[in-house]
Amino acid sequence: MTRLEHFTAADDERTRTWARAVPQMYHGADPDETRLSWLVDSAVADGAMLTGAYEDAPGVDGRIAPVGTFAAVPGTLNLGGAPVTASLIASVGVRPTHRRQGLLRRMMEQSLRSSADAGVPLSILTASEGGIYERFGFGAAVWRGPLRLDVRSGLRLRASGRGSVHEVDPHWLMDRAPTVFERFHTRSFGSVSRRAEFLGDVLFEPTGDRLSALVRAAVHLGENGEVDGFAFYRPSTAWAHSLEILDLIALTPDAYLGLWALLGNTDLVDTLTFDGAVLDEPIRHAVVDPRTAAVTGVHDSLWVRVLDPVAALGSRRYRGAVAETIVLDIRDDLGHAAGLFEVDVRGGAASVRRVEAAAPDVTMDVATLGVLLLGTVTATELERSSRLTLAGVAAGERLDAVFAPTSPPRFYSQF
Ligand SMILES: CC(C)(COP(=O)(O)OP(=O)(O)OC[C@H]1O[C@@H](n2cnc3c(N)ncnc32)[C@H](O)[C@@H]1OP(=O)(O)O)[C@@H](O)C(=O)NCCC(=O)NCCS
Repeated sequence: MTRLEHFTAADDERTRTWARAVPQMYHGADPDETRLSWLVDSAVADGAMLTGAYEDAPGVDGRIAPVGTFAAVPGTLNLGGAPVTASLIASVGVRPTHRRQGLLRRMMEQSLRSSADAGVPLSILTASEGGIYERFGFGAAVWRGPLRLDVRSGLRLRASGRGSVHEVDPHWLMDRAPTVFERFHTRSFGSVSRRAEFLGDVLFEPTGDRLSALVRAAVHLGENGEVDGFAFYRPSTAWAHSLEILDLIALTPDAYLGLWALLGNTDLVDTLTFDGAVLDEPIRHAVVDPRTAAVTGVHDSLWVRVLDPVAALGSRRYRGAVAETIVLDIRDDLGHAAGLFEVDVRGGAASVRRVEAAAPDVTMDVATLGVLLLGTVTATELERSSRLTLAGVAAGERLDAVFAPTSPPRFYSQF
């Protein structure tokens, strides 16, 4: 039987062989030596726990390479208060010769078990396909809405931000952006900590560790002169008429509007795109003419798997005015989150405890709990979609009040 090996990323041959195999799972380019070293360094910096699936015998070409890969990276998800520990699952792949033989199931079940044993309340991921992960208890909790803005006549905004915007050397910004992001992450509901490879993944040439030649960067300085927002962007070609936003993080509305105003009022540019936009990206409501900001698609983005309902629900912030007690009956094929839970919400916080017997207000599977946790769909809507069963109309109203998010999720950390 194919053997699974679990190991922490290290600067060694096993990690290099593992990292070389990952792009092959996604039809990606083979990394050159500099890229490989950067991938390994990033995995080591993240403290990534790696799984490789191996055959005992080498391949016909004599190579020993994993036939399956899986990574679990320690990170955090912001649920409105102090960011909550989460395991970020990434680099999931199984070679075509070994697909549909249960390797993903073995790697996933082992990872969820070890996270649960370590007291990590959540596993989260972004998916290449929508049909794979619900069976493991993940719910599509945050959605993305790529944007295309028509800026032929410039970007006309209702208001202009205070402070100033400056073009900067992208290398200079790469050193400073993580600190700004960290401040954003600690204050933004739905934000996920970034992996060490995040910026390089977005900004580097696909095979090396060099910045793509067309990447540009800008910062916003607040009235105190500090960097409180930044953007990386790229024209499609040297004389092209479109500009692609690769990353845009703003700590204040002034920084947000200032950066958008710069990018939307650049000469020779007709179209501004932002594939990483969240579904309710504020710029849609900041433009004078809403038809100039088109959402070009809607797709699942962040999938959330609750392992410990007491810790996950207890770490979330709730609206201050809500005072309700609800009972959740959670089903979980893998057992981790199954049971009856009483959630008492007051003053923006919840105390949560497992109970032996109580009449549930709602019965649902653990994947649906992941959706409710982020509050992007109401319990009433989820019942209309046959995703859960409510005890009655009043129970639905109470759940809707409890899970109404304190703000829409801000997830800008594709991983
Ligand atoms: C997706 C992938 C990892 C699946 O690995 P695998 O080892 O073939 O999966 P398993 O055999 O363990 O299947 C586990 C379950 O998932 C289902 N499944 C697997 N791939 C699926 C897919 N693409 N769509 C829907 N269901 C899928 C299986 O039917 C099985 O269901 P069951 O256990 O409930 O009967 C593998 O096909 C792959 O590497 N694909 C290309 C890279 C990729 O998309 N990776 C995912 C990145 S998020």
